[in-house]
Amino acid sequence: MNQAAEISYEKLIEMGHDPKQSVRFPDKSVIVRCEHIPWTPWALKGSSFKLLYVNRAIGMTVALIKIEKGTQTEKHFHFGEAHAYVLSGAFGYEHGLAYEGDLLVEGGGIAHEPRIGDDADLITFTIFFGGLGGVKEDGTVDGCMSCDAMYEMAKANGAADHIEPPPVARQAHG
Ligand SMILES: [Fe+2]
Repeated sequence: MNQAAEISYEKLIEMGHDPKQSVRFPDKSVIVRCEHIPWTPWALKGSSFKLLYVNRAIGMTVALIKIEKGTQTEKHFHFGEAHAYVLSGAFGYEHGLAYEGDLLVEGGGIAHEPRIGDDADLITFTIFFGGLGGVKEDGTVDGCMSCDAMYEMAKANGAADHIEPPPVARQAHG
């Protein structure tokens, strides 16, 4: 039996941290109190996000994304795949709509323009790999919304205290 299984459920409740405060542990585990993180305005039209977790070693960003219903957003480019589980609303691209309860996997290395459903604001639990870029009129990619770009936006909004900061050595070159 492993150690975790020897801890009773009652003990787990006793150990409970502030249920409104996210907490990081020395073994790199994290409990993120998603409900208590503020929304931060994001790059796409009508959008905002809650940054939940980043893994810089593999360029992975975990976030809740919200986009206002009925929005036709601008084109964006994916440096890697994005996996979006629809918590509410609907959205889609040229392949059709993904509805509440669906997982939409967006391919890496592609550009597209999401259309948000008309009935409800879209909220997705999304994992980005490698980040996103804007797309200029000539079709070239404009910048990269990396995990650290999202971290800096969230931090400026007081919404990144639960995220491990970038390494200090790298900031010295920033
Ligand atoms: Fe996309």
